[in-house]
Amino acid sequence: MRRIIVITGTPGSGKTTIAKRLHSSLKGSKLISANEVLSKKGLFSSISKDGAKVANMKALWRELSKEASSGHGDSIVEGHLLSEMRIKGATAFVIREHLGVLRGRLEKRGYPMQKISDNLISEALDYCGAHAFSNYRRCFEVMSGRNAHLKILEILGTKAQNSTRIELLEELMPMFGGDPDSIVL
Ligand SMILES: Nc1ncnc2c1ncn2[C@@H]1O[C@H](COP(=O)(O)OP(=O)(O)OP(=O)(O)O)[C@@H](O)[C@H]1O
Ligand SMILES: [Mg+2]
Repeated sequence: MRRIIVITGTPGSGKTTIAKRLHSSLKGSKLISANEVLSKKGLFSSISKDGAKVANMKALWRELSKEASSGHGDSIVEGHLLSEMRIKGATAFVIREHLGVLRGRLEKRGYPMQKISDNLISEALDYCGAHAFSNYRRCFEVMSGRNAHLKILEILGTKAQNSTRIELLEELMPMFGGDPDSIVL
């Protein structure tokens, strides 16, 4: 039976890397990147105060739903915005990453301090997980890493309905030197 597999999580958590490995492991599968669909089809509704393009979520949802449900093999749809929508019939995986690792990746990308701090706080509070668990009937959290795609394949082979949430909140304070005032909000 063909499946729709959603891979979501905080920016930099490893979604694209893991989705590509999963795609290589699942013969005949189709890989759909929400970011690619967004920019290729220009599905933006406005420009935010800081100059970033704002996704038209309804248009993106319509396009991703259409692409995910066409064809014969499994569809893998990846992107952080996937947590904030519901692709019908999909099993969702939220990729989690340790805050120290995530900070290193986001710094390497040259993100401004405010953006790094926003993303670290989102990961600590499991923002994507909170949304994904309410949007998807079948939802699992998986730690990022070399074997994350194997863990996903293992879960897909079971009848399990949900996983527990992964707790990373305790990693937040040491990230900011133990000083809550240094967190940029
Ligand atoms: N398991 C891993 N081990 C080591 N490095 C990794 C791993 N997974 C991802 N990375 C590295 O982390 C960076 C971010 O990974 P990736 O682009 O897959 O994240 P993403 O969640 O898709 O980010 P975005 O939301 O911005 O698209 C990349 O440089 C990638 O090489
Ligand atoms: Mg990506």
